Amino acid sequence: MAEALVFHSDIDPPEPWIEALRAELPWLDIRPSGAAGEVDEVRYALVWKPPMGFFARFPNLELVTNLGAGVDALLARPDLPHVPITRISDPEMSRMMASFVLFAVLRHARDIPALERAQREGRWHFINPRTADQIAVGVLGLGELGGLAAQELARQGFRVSGWSRSPKDLPGIDCMSGLEALPDFLARTEILVVMLPLTPETRHLLDARRLAQLPRGAKLVNVARGAIVDEAALVAALRSGHVAEATLDVFETEPLPADSPLWRMENVLVTPHLASMAIPRSAAAQVAANIRRIRAGEPIANRVDAARGY
Ligand code: NDP
Ligand code: OXD
Repeated sequence: MAEALVFHSDIDPPEPWIEALRAELPWLDIRPSGAAGEVDEVRYALVWKPPMGFFARFPNLELVTNLGAGVDALLARPDLPHVPITRISDPEMSRMMASFVLFAVLRHARDIPALERAQREGRWHFINPRTADQIAVGVLGLGELGGLAAQELARQGFRVSGWSRSPKDLPGIDCMSGLEALPDFLARTEILVVMLPLTPETRHLLDARRLAQLPRGAKLVNVARGAIVDEAALVAALRSGHVAEATLDVFETEPLPADSPLWRMENVLVTPHLASMAIPRSAAAQVAANIRRIRAGEPIANRVDAARGY
């Protein structure tokens, strides 16, 4: 029987993925969801947030690849088939994320939001610049994306601490791990970058109590998942000035609802979940490699641990 891969994403155009995957696996029938073809032939799915009930149409699925790094939405689905799940883990995606994090941290470190406000008021507002080594940046999550972002920040000369579940040893980063280390980590952090996956352990990890453990005037960059931060507590901290500024790429509800106070806060930059994404020309090779492994009966790479949640 012929073998097929079904592709679904409402935000990624299918053509670049189909072209890149065809170059890797010329024998495979690659179909955008909704295209004609025998459903029995579909063995592989490459998907970002497909509609509920999507997987039930394909009785012979052997592998689901999440078209992105964060698998929280996929793992939360009641209709997830009992087949191995993998995620994209792409160096180009890590690079794109690291550049966004660098942009956001530098923007806060160089007081750009205050200068933008001053410009709007026609005010010449000299702020003595500080050097990067005077600024403590904390990165929550030291995985594929957070690890590279932390190293790029260290390369710029920032004092970088990182926090993860298991102990790590990364050059130039003061690595801490475990919940017991979190209060100290937060207390020493001036610019906090959130790069954790959303799991039952990390949901609302940054609640009012933990936000209060940051020094007054701290800045927050969340490029991971909105629900890792208690959004109502964050709004309160931004209003009180305890958190002075935030760059938010992700939200508890996306798109961010029109009535969210975050839209109108002078000290918040809202971006619409685009800090990084999977890049077909570099990520297709790993999707193809896993399909070859499945066919050869070998263990797949970047397998998601559903019990751990990432
Ligand atoms: P990884 O799975 O590679 O790394 C996750 C990191 O978080 C690891 O260091 C892990 O620790 C740590 N971690 C997980 N749970 C805990 C916990 N309970 N306590 C402490 N540390 C924890 O993820 P990535 O780096 O690839 O991606 C991170 C997230 O970024 C994704 O899950 C996704 O939500 C988000 N993302 C956002 C994008 C955007 O455009 N805004 C684009 C792509 C991803 P350990 O190393 O010990 O396992
Ligand atoms: C994500 C992604 O996980 O875009 O947000 O990959």
